[in-house]
Amino acid sequence: MAQDFTQIQEQISEEDKETKLLKSLSGIKNTIMVMSGKGGVGKSTVSANLAVGLAHKGYRVGVLDGDIHGPDMPKVLGVEDGKLMADENGNILPVKVLENLKLVSVGYLIDSQDTPVIWRGPMKHSVMKQFLRDVNWGELDFLVVDLPPGTGDEPLSIAQIIKNAQGAVPPSAVVVTTPQDVALLDSRKSVQFARALELKILGIVENMSGFACPHCGETIDLFKIGGGRKAAEDLGVPFLGSIPIDPKIVTGTDEGKPFIAYDNGSGSVKAFKQILDTIIENS
Ligand SMILES: Nc1ncnc2c1ncn2[C@@H]1O[C@H](COP(=O)(O)OP(=O)(O)OP(=O)(O)O)[C@@H](O)[C@H]1O
Ligand SMILES: [Mg+2]
Repeated sequence: MAQDFTQIQEQISEEDKETKLLKSLSGIKNTIMVMSGKGGVGKSTVSANLAVGLAHKGYRVGVLDGDIHGPDMPKVLGVEDGKLMADENGNILPVKVLENLKLVSVGYLIDSQDTPVIWRGPMKHSVMKQFLRDVNWGELDFLVVDLPPGTGDEPLSIAQIIKNAQGAVPPSAVVVTTPQDVALLDSRKSVQFARALELKILGIVENMSGFACPHCGETIDLFKIGGGRKAAEDLGVPFLGSIPIDPKIVTGTDEGKPFIAYDNGSGSVKAFKQILDTIIENS
């Protein structure tokens, strides 16, 4: 029978936590951490579309919303009304987005969207550990982790927890950037961070790369284009592709309908599908 999430922690403290973590992680074939140096470059958009795109291809997908201070995934995936429950063993049941797509987010643990989460590093670490150990993810082909910008506690915790678990598949990283110099500069830090943690770097995505004018069809380079590819070349990591600015992406995000789910043949959907295929190939 389902029970309230708040009752779970007491029960699990009696178990052998390390064994439980290993067991949970052994069911996850790939973990993809979506990172960026700067905020607002499209990590959550990429995470959501990556997850939905993978699920539509038949993969079993989990999404871990690792952005504790700005948990956007329930909204972006259209499951804001979801609730974390517990299974009969006291594990957390993720919220079902699709039959083969599940989500866990701190957004489900706070009372209101306007309530700020004020947690220090160790608390964040313990929540990340709970999300990896005490969630009944089942068998997953991919766990997509949406992260806050930068190289702080959340990416560090997730990477270390998985890396330190013997037998678990080490996580991979996708770095999202926009084409401006400042964003590119910061994305280099994300790549170096991933390198320092010995993550497999799947590559760099250049988002908001040009804008196709709906009137004349001509591409306008609002923030310049091509910096992501150049940064990838300089850093010796794969370049995954460019996603143009597309107003439908904003509408899709706001309505909780990731744009990849609506194949309208637009350049942004095509670009993202190509990125998705490359990620699957290289995972
Ligand atoms: N290619 C794009 N074209 C148009 N709008 C986009 C595109 N990519 C993302 N957006 C929009 O930009 C905004 C920021 O995107 P998103 O929330 O994915 O960024 P983020 O990197 O996750 O931000 P944060 O660092 O705050 O977590 C959203 O409103 C999203 O819909
Ligand atoms: Mg985000």
